[in-house]
Amino acid sequence: MRHLMSPLDFSVDELERLMDLANDIEHNPEKYAHACDGKILATLFYEPSTRTRLSFESAMIRLGGKCLGFASADNSSAAKGESVSDTIRIVSCYADICAMRHPKEGAPLVASLVSGIPVINAGDGGHQHPTQTLTDLLTIRSMKGRLDHLTIGLCGDLKFGRTVHSLISALVRYEGIRFLLISPDELRVPDYIRNDVLKANHIDFEEVTKLEDALPHLDLLYMTRVQKERFFNEEDYVRMKDFYILDKAKMELAGPDMLVLHPLPRVNEISVEVDSDPRAAYFKQAQYGVYARMALILTLLGIETK
Ligand code: NCD
Repeated sequence: MRHLMSPLDFSVDELERLMDLANDIEHNPEKYAHACDGKILATLFYEPSTRTRLSFESAMIRLGGKCLGFASADNSSAAKGESVSDTIRIVSCYADICAMRHPKEGAPLVASLVSGIPVINAGDGGHQHPTQTLTDLLTIRSMKGRLDHLTIGLCGDLKFGRTVHSLISALVRYEGIRFLLISPDELRVPDYIRNDVLKANHIDFEEVTKLEDALPHLDLLYMTRVQKERFFNEEDYVRMKDFYILDKAKMELAGPDMLVLHPLPRVNEISVEVDSDPRAAYFKQAQYGVYARMALILTLLGIETK
């Protein structure tokens, strides 16, 4: 039995196969409409979510399966003090696969140790978000045609943004990747990403503060929200929250093929006037999230479709 805790749980070859499958699902959805008949997905969400939970449920339903679960810790037995380990033991009797989001780093990993079914980390605190990374890789590969030889700007909350940590970890395995890490000083990437991921893999990267300086050099800009829920005080959040706002004027500094991605939800960091720019790919990215999760469910359940 296989779980998904980090994007590195899949080799580069396995990721290629998963993305090929996702693209086949995109173009031939009818082939997969009954692939998960009789299977059940549990979504155990101890933290807010729109896209991740609903796209998982949509993915399972589009594969012919069914879903159950909870959307907040308050209406599960966590509110009575039940441990994640006990909950997953029980859910293993009710479902065939589960996606778990939790505010504590490592909670899905703890669950996977005692689980009778595959556990997917759907975001653990400020740590990792591997299924967003599958979505991001699929979006980049589908829209850019490659995952290598790219200059990628990651902008915003690089400290608490788990999507950023997972995406960097996954991309360092491809040739010719260069990062411009754009953040205020207080929100720079954590040391383990800088030292154990970027430096350890001899990746070309630069940490900068001004978005305007980076924009002309990028193949791809990955914007992120300042992660309000991870701040220790409101004052720091208020000071940081509007540090970056990508608008029409700034988009003029970027090349004609620079894609703009964002895991969403957006707050103020991309102004709505950018939505109609052909380079804005964040809504398309959310659509790829369904195909990526369909491919992941099939892969972890070991279901082959001819
Ligand atoms: C992200 C998350 O939950 O980490 N959202 C998502 O899953 N698409 C990003 C965020 O909340 O800012």
